[in-house]
Amino acid sequence: MSGICADRVVVVTGAGRGLGRAHALAFAAEGARVVVNDLGVALDGAPDAGRPAGAVVAEIRAAGGDAVAHGADIATGEGAAGLIRTAVETYGRLDTLVSNAGFLRDRMLVNLGEDDWDAVIRVHLKGHFLPLRHAAAHWRAETKAGRTPVARVVHTGSGAGLLGSVGQGNYSAAKAGIVGLTLVAAAELARYGVQVNAVAPAARTRMTERAFAATMAAPAAGFDAMAPENVSPLVVWLGSAGSAGVTGRVFETEGGRITVMEGWRPGPTADKGARWTPAEAGEAARKLLAEAEPPGRVYGA
Ligand SMILES: NC(=O)c1ccc[n+]([C@@H]2O[C@H](COP(=O)([O-])OP(=O)(O)OC[C@H]3O[C@@H](n4cnc5c(N)ncnc54)[C@H](O)[C@@H]3O)[C@@H](O)[C@H]2O)c1
Repeated sequence: MSGICADRVVVVTGAGRGLGRAHALAFAAEGARVVVNDLGVALDGAPDAGRPAGAVVAEIRAAGGDAVAHGADIATGEGAAGLIRTAVETYGRLDTLVSNAGFLRDRMLVNLGEDDWDAVIRVHLKGHFLPLRHAAAHWRAETKAGRTPVARVVHTGSGAGLLGSVGQGNYSAAKAGIVGLTLVAAAELARYGVQVNAVAPAARTRMTERAFAATMAAPAAGFDAMAPENVSPLVVWLGSAGSAGVTGRVFETEGGRITVMEGWRPGPTADKGARWTPAEAGEAARKLLAEAEPPGRVYGA
Protein backbone atom coordinates (compact mmCIF):
# COMPACT_ATOMS: atom_id res chain seq x y z
CA MET A 1 0.00 0.00 0.00
CA SER A 2 1.20 3.52 -0.69
CA GLY A 3 1.11 6.39 1.82
CA ILE A 4 3.40 8.40 4.10
CA CYS A 5 4.44 5.23 5.97
CA ALA A 6 4.91 2.92 2.95
CA ASP A 7 7.55 0.27 3.74
CA ARG A 8 7.73 1.24 7.41
CA VAL A 9 7.26 -1.31 10.19
CA VAL A 10 5.33 0.13 13.12
CA VAL A 11 4.66 -1.31 16.56
CA VAL A 12 1.65 0.02 18.51
CA THR A 13 1.10 -1.09 22.13
CA GLY A 14 -2.41 -1.36 23.55
CA ALA A 15 -3.71 -1.32 19.97
CA GLY A 16 -6.67 -3.64 20.49
CA ARG A 17 -9.04 -0.85 21.49
CA GLY A 18 -9.56 2.89 21.68
CA LEU A 19 -6.75 5.19 20.58
CA GLY A 20 -4.23 2.40 19.91
CA ARG A 21 -6.64 0.62 17.55
CA ALA A 22 -7.27 3.90 15.69
CA HIS A 23 -3.48 4.46 15.40
CA ALA A 24 -2.85 0.92 14.10
CA LEU A 25 -5.57 1.25 11.43
CA ALA A 26 -4.31 4.73 10.43
CA PHE A 27 -0.69 3.55 10.09
CA ALA A 28 -1.83 0.59 7.97
CA ALA A 29 -3.89 2.92 5.77
CA GLU A 30 -0.68 4.91 5.16
CA GLY A 31 1.14 1.79 3.99
CA ALA A 32 2.83 0.60 7.21
CA ARG A 33 3.12 -3.02 8.26
CA VAL A 34 1.88 -3.06 11.84
CA VAL A 35 2.58 -5.13 14.95
CA VAL A 36 -0.67 -4.84 16.92
CA ASN A 37 0.08 -5.40 20.60
CA ASP A 38 -2.61 -5.83 23.23
CA LEU A 39 -2.66 -7.96 26.35
CA GLY A 40 -6.44 -7.62 26.57
CA VAL A 41 -7.22 -6.33 30.07
CA ALA A 42 -10.18 -4.62 31.70
CA LEU A 43 -10.20 -0.89 32.36
CA ASP A 44 -8.56 -1.42 35.78
CA GLY A 45 -5.95 -3.84 34.42
CA ALA A 46 -7.73 -7.01 35.58
CA PRO A 47 -7.43 -10.03 33.24
CA ASP A 48 -9.99 -10.04 30.45
CA ALA A 49 -10.99 -12.93 28.22
CA GLY A 50 -10.98 -10.87 24.99
CA ARG A 51 -8.30 -11.09 22.28
CA PRO A 52 -8.58 -7.54 20.90
CA ALA A 53 -5.21 -7.53 19.05
CA GLY A 54 -6.34 -10.34 16.74
CA ALA A 55 -9.56 -8.51 15.86
CA VAL A 56 -7.61 -5.38 14.82
CA VAL A 57 -5.21 -7.47 12.73
CA ALA A 58 -8.25 -8.96 10.97
CA GLU A 59 -9.61 -5.45 10.30
CA ILE A 60 -6.28 -4.31 8.82
CA ARG A 61 -6.01 -7.40 6.61
CA ALA A 62 -9.63 -7.04 5.46
CA ALA A 63 -8.75 -3.52 4.28
CA GLY A 64 -5.80 -4.90 2.26
CA GLY A 65 -3.09 -4.10 4.82
CA ASP A 66 -0.44 -6.18 6.57
CA ALA A 67 -0.38 -6.73 10.34
CA VAL A 68 0.53 -9.28 12.98
CA ALA A 69 -0.78 -9.64 16.54
CA HIS A 70 1.30 -9.67 19.71
CA GLY A 71 -0.56 -10.44 22.94
CA ALA A 72 2.00 -10.03 25.74
CA ASP A 73 2.29 -7.55 28.62
CA ILE A 74 4.60 -4.72 27.52
CA ALA A 75 5.48 -3.83 31.11
CA THR A 76 7.49 -7.08 31.50
CA GLY A 77 11.02 -7.54 30.22
CA GLU A 78 10.08 -10.61 28.18
CA GLY A 79 6.89 -8.99 26.83
CA ALA A 80 8.75 -5.88 25.67
CA ALA A 81 11.68 -7.82 24.22
CA GLY A 82 9.24 -10.15 22.43
CA LEU A 83 7.38 -7.18 20.99
CA ILE A 84 10.47 -5.76 19.29
CA ARG A 85 11.59 -9.27 18.27
CA THR A 86 8.18 -9.88 16.65
CA ALA A 87 8.63 -6.83 14.40
CA VAL A 88 12.18 -7.76 13.40
CA GLU A 89 11.49 -11.49 12.91
CA THR A 90 8.19 -10.99 11.04
CA TYR A 91 9.10 -8.02 8.85
CA GLY A 92 12.91 -7.82 9.05
CA ARG A 93 12.98 -4.30 10.49
CA LEU A 94 11.53 -1.80 12.96
CA ASP A 95 10.93 1.85 12.10
CA THR A 96 8.40 3.25 14.58
CA LEU A 97 7.36 2.45 18.13
CA VAL A 98 4.10 3.91 19.45
CA SER A 99 3.65 3.31 23.18
CA ASN A 100 0.03 3.71 24.19
CA ALA A 101 -1.04 0.78 26.41
CA GLY A 102 -2.34 1.46 29.89
CA PHE A 103 -5.19 1.42 32.37
CA LEU A 104 -6.55 3.42 35.31
CA ARG A 105 -7.06 2.94 39.06
CA ASP A 106 -8.52 6.32 40.02
CA ARG A 107 -8.78 7.17 43.74
CA MET A 108 -8.36 10.29 45.85
CA LEU A 109 -4.89 10.29 47.42
CA VAL A 110 -6.14 9.47 50.92
CA ASN A 111 -7.71 6.25 49.55
CA LEU A 112 -5.07 5.38 46.96
CA GLY A 113 -3.70 1.94 47.83
CA GLU A 114 -0.11 0.90 47.29
CA ASP A 115 -1.27 -1.71 44.75
CA ASP A 116 -3.15 0.94 42.76
CA TRP A 117 -0.05 3.15 42.79
CA ASP A 118 2.27 0.33 41.69
CA ALA A 119 -0.03 -1.05 38.99
CA VAL A 120 -0.58 2.30 37.26
CA ILE A 121 3.06 3.47 37.51
CA ARG A 122 4.10 0.06 36.18
CA VAL A 123 1.82 -0.18 33.16
CA HIS A 124 2.36 3.40 31.96
CA LEU A 125 5.90 4.34 33.00
CA LYS A 126 7.64 0.96 32.89
CA GLY A 127 5.36 0.07 29.96
CA HIS A 128 6.93 3.00 28.07
CA PHE A 129 10.50 2.43 29.27
CA LEU A 130 10.87 -1.26 28.43
CA PRO A 131 9.73 -1.22 24.76
CA LEU A 132 11.79 1.98 24.28
CA ARG A 133 14.87 0.32 25.75
CA HIS A 134 14.59 -2.77 23.52
CA ALA A 135 13.81 -0.70 20.41
CA ALA A 136 16.75 1.61 21.17
CA ALA A 137 19.12 -1.35 21.52
CA HIS A 138 17.95 -2.60 18.11
CA TRP A 139 18.48 0.81 16.50
CA ARG A 140 21.90 1.24 18.11
CA ALA A 141 22.93 -2.15 16.66
CA GLU A 142 21.64 -1.06 13.24
CA THR A 143 23.66 2.17 13.46
CA LYS A 144 26.79 0.25 14.46
CA ALA A 145 26.27 -2.03 11.44
CA GLY A 146 26.28 1.05 9.20
CA ARG A 147 22.51 1.19 8.70
CA THR A 148 21.49 4.32 10.64
CA PRO A 149 17.69 4.14 10.80
CA VAL A 150 15.06 6.82 10.28
CA ALA A 151 13.43 5.75 13.52
CA ARG A 152 10.53 7.32 15.38
CA VAL A 153 9.03 6.86 18.85
CA VAL A 154 5.68 8.33 19.86
CA HIS A 155 4.82 8.25 23.57
CA THR A 156 1.38 8.76 25.08
CA GLY A 157 1.18 11.34 27.83
CA SER A 158 -1.93 13.05 29.14
CA GLY A 159 -3.16 16.44 30.25
CA ALA A 160 -3.21 14.78 33.69
CA GLY A 161 0.57 14.51 33.54
CA LEU A 162 1.01 18.11 32.36
CA LEU A 163 -1.44 19.96 34.65
CA GLY A 164 -2.47 17.33 37.23
CA SER A 165 -5.89 15.71 37.63
CA VAL A 166 -7.88 15.30 40.84
CA GLY A 167 -8.38 11.62 41.72
CA GLN A 168 -5.54 10.54 39.44
CA GLY A 169 -2.37 10.97 41.55
CA ASN A 170 -0.87 7.67 40.34
CA TYR A 171 -1.79 8.27 36.70
CA SER A 172 -0.67 11.94 36.70
CA ALA A 173 2.71 10.96 38.19
CA ALA A 174 3.17 8.18 35.61
CA LYS A 175 2.25 10.44 32.70
CA ALA A 176 4.51 13.27 33.95
CA GLY A 177 7.29 10.67 34.15
CA ILE A 178 6.65 9.72 30.52
CA VAL A 179 7.29 13.35 29.50
CA GLY A 180 10.64 13.30 31.34
CA LEU A 181 11.52 9.98 29.70
CA THR A 182 10.63 11.44 26.29
CA LEU A 183 13.01 14.40 26.76
CA VAL A 184 15.91 12.17 27.82
CA ALA A 185 15.27 9.64 25.04
CA ALA A 186 15.17 12.39 22.40
CA ALA A 187 18.56 13.68 23.59
CA GLU A 188 20.23 10.28 24.04
CA LEU A 189 18.98 8.52 20.92
CA ALA A 190 19.41 11.25 18.29
CA ARG A 191 22.83 9.78 17.43
CA TYR A 192 21.11 6.53 16.39
CA GLY A 193 18.67 8.27 14.04
CA VAL A 194 15.80 8.11 16.55
CA GLN A 195 13.29 10.92 17.16
CA VAL A 196 11.11 10.75 20.27
CA ASN A 197 7.97 12.83 20.86
CA ALA A 198 4.85 12.58 23.03
CA VAL A 199 1.17 13.28 22.50
CA ALA A 200 -1.40 14.13 25.18
CA PRO A 201 -4.66 13.01 23.54
CA ALA A 202 -8.31 13.36 24.43
CA ALA A 203 -10.96 11.14 22.88
CA ARG A 204 -14.00 9.07 23.70
CA THR A 205 -12.84 5.55 24.60
CA ARG A 206 -13.87 3.16 27.34
CA MET A 207 -11.32 5.01 29.53
CA THR A 208 -13.21 8.31 29.28
CA GLU A 209 -16.77 7.48 28.27
CA ARG A 210 -18.09 7.42 31.84
CA ALA A 211 -16.21 10.53 33.00
CA PHE A 212 -17.27 12.68 30.05
CA ALA A 213 -20.51 10.99 28.96
CA ALA A 214 -22.44 14.26 28.61
CA THR A 215 -19.88 16.14 26.52
CA MET A 216 -18.53 13.22 24.57
CA ALA A 217 -21.61 11.77 22.89
CA ALA A 218 -21.11 11.08 19.19
CA PRO A 219 -23.14 13.47 17.02
CA ALA A 220 -25.82 11.95 14.81
CA ALA A 221 -24.09 13.47 11.77
CA GLY A 222 -21.08 15.66 10.97
CA PHE A 223 -17.67 15.88 12.60
CA ASP A 224 -17.37 13.66 15.68
CA ALA A 225 -14.84 15.76 17.62
CA MET A 226 -14.27 13.09 20.28
CA ALA A 227 -13.58 10.15 17.95
CA PRO A 228 -10.20 8.51 18.71
CA GLU A 229 -9.48 8.55 14.95
CA ASN A 230 -8.94 12.34 15.22
CA VAL A 231 -5.78 11.82 17.31
CA SER A 232 -4.15 9.33 14.92
CA PRO A 233 -3.14 11.63 12.00
CA LEU A 234 -0.59 13.53 14.14
CA VAL A 235 0.68 10.24 15.62
CA VAL A 236 1.09 8.78 12.11
CA TRP A 237 2.96 11.88 10.92
CA LEU A 238 5.26 11.84 13.98
CA GLY A 239 5.86 8.16 13.23
CA SER A 240 6.74 8.81 9.58
CA ALA A 241 9.97 9.91 7.91
CA GLY A 242 8.19 13.20 7.11
CA SER A 243 8.58 14.46 10.70
CA ALA A 244 12.37 14.86 10.27
CA GLY A 245 13.83 17.37 12.74
CA VAL A 246 10.94 17.16 15.25
CA THR A 247 12.04 15.57 18.52
CA GLY A 248 11.63 16.02 22.27
CA ARG A 249 8.27 17.78 21.82
CA VAL A 250 4.87 17.32 23.46
CA PHE A 251 1.63 17.95 21.56
CA GLU A 252 -1.91 18.06 22.89
CA THR A 253 -4.34 16.77 20.29
CA GLU A 254 -8.10 16.43 20.37
CA GLY A 255 -10.81 16.73 17.70
CA GLY A 256 -9.49 19.07 15.02
CA ARG A 257 -7.02 20.82 17.35
CA ILE A 258 -3.23 20.36 17.67
CA THR A 259 -1.35 22.37 20.33
CA VAL A 260 2.40 22.44 21.01
CA MET A 261 2.75 22.28 24.79
CA GLU A 262 5.47 24.57 26.07
CA GLY A 263 7.00 23.06 29.17
CA TRP A 264 8.85 24.16 32.26
CA ARG A 265 11.16 27.08 31.60
CA PRO A 266 12.68 29.67 33.95
CA GLY A 267 10.30 32.47 34.92
CA PRO A 268 11.00 35.43 37.22
CA THR A 269 14.23 34.90 39.14
CA ALA A 270 16.21 36.60 41.91
CA ASP A 271 19.83 35.99 42.97
CA LYS A 272 21.14 37.38 46.25
CA GLY A 273 24.68 36.16 45.51
CA ALA A 274 24.72 34.70 49.04
CA ARG A 275 22.56 32.40 51.20
CA TRP A 276 19.05 33.72 52.00
CA THR A 277 17.50 33.47 55.45
CA PRO A 278 14.15 31.59 55.36
CA ALA A 279 12.25 34.84 55.91
CA GLU A 280 14.15 36.56 53.09
CA ALA A 281 13.64 33.55 50.81
CA GLY A 282 9.89 33.69 51.49
CA GLU A 283 9.74 37.40 50.78
CA ALA A 284 11.68 36.92 47.52
CA ALA A 285 9.46 33.96 46.51
CA ARG A 286 6.26 35.99 47.04
CA LYS A 287 7.65 38.89 44.98
CA LEU A 288 8.63 36.55 42.14
CA LEU A 289 5.24 34.76 42.24
CA ALA A 290 3.51 38.13 41.84
CA GLU A 291 5.43 38.62 38.59
CA ALA A 292 4.99 35.03 37.33
CA GLU A 293 2.33 33.49 35.07
CA PRO A 294 -0.28 31.70 37.22
CA PRO A 295 -0.23 27.91 36.72
CA GLY A 296 -2.90 26.19 34.60
CA ARG A 297 -5.87 24.81 36.52
CA VAL A 298 -5.58 21.20 37.72
CA TYR A 299 -8.23 19.06 35.95
CA GLY A 300 -11.17 18.47 38.26
CA ALA A 301 -10.08 21.07 40.84
N1 LIG B 1 -8.96 8.50 25.95
C1 LIG B 1 -8.46 9.65 26.35
O1 LIG B 1 -9.12 10.73 26.32
C2 LIG B 1 -7.05 9.72 26.87
C3 LIG B 1 -6.59 10.93 27.42
C4 LIG B 1 -5.26 11.02 27.84
C5 LIG B 1 -4.44 9.92 27.70
N2 LIG B 1 -4.91 8.75 27.19
C6 LIG B 1 -3.97 7.63 27.08
O2 LIG B 1 -4.11 7.02 25.81
C7 LIG B 1 -3.76 5.64 25.90
C8 LIG B 1 -4.86 4.77 25.30
O3 LIG B 1 -6.03 4.93 26.09
P1 LIG B 1 -7.50 4.57 25.56
O4 LIG B 1 -8.35 5.71 26.01
O5 LIG B 1 -7.47 4.16 24.14
O6 LIG B 1 -7.85 3.33 26.52
P2 LIG B 1 -8.40 1.84 26.21
O7 LIG B 1 -8.67 1.22 27.53
O8 LIG B 1 -9.50 1.91 25.21
O9 LIG B 1 -7.16 1.11 25.51
C9 LIG B 1 -6.00 0.74 26.19
C10 LIG B 1 -5.57 -0.63 25.72
O10 LIG B 1 -4.33 -0.98 26.37
C11 LIG B 1 -4.36 -2.39 26.65
N3 LIG B 1 -3.40 -2.70 27.72
C12 LIG B 1 -3.50 -2.38 29.02
N4 LIG B 1 -2.43 -2.83 29.70
C13 LIG B 1 -1.63 -3.47 28.80
C14 LIG B 1 -0.37 -4.13 28.89
N5 LIG B 1 0.27 -4.24 30.07
N6 LIG B 1 0.18 -4.65 27.76
C15 LIG B 1 -0.46 -4.53 26.57
N7 LIG B 1 -1.66 -3.93 26.43
C16 LIG B 1 -2.24 -3.40 27.53
C17 LIG B 1 -5.81 -2.67 27.04
O11 LIG B 1 -6.14 -4.04 26.90
C18 LIG B 1 -6.57 -1.75 26.07
O12 LIG B 1 -6.99 -2.43 24.90
C19 LIG B 1 -3.48 5.37 27.38
O13 LIG B 1 -2.09 5.46 27.63
C20 LIG B 1 -4.21 6.50 28.07
O14 LIG B 1 -3.68 6.77 29.35
C21 LIG B 1 -6.20 8.62 26.79
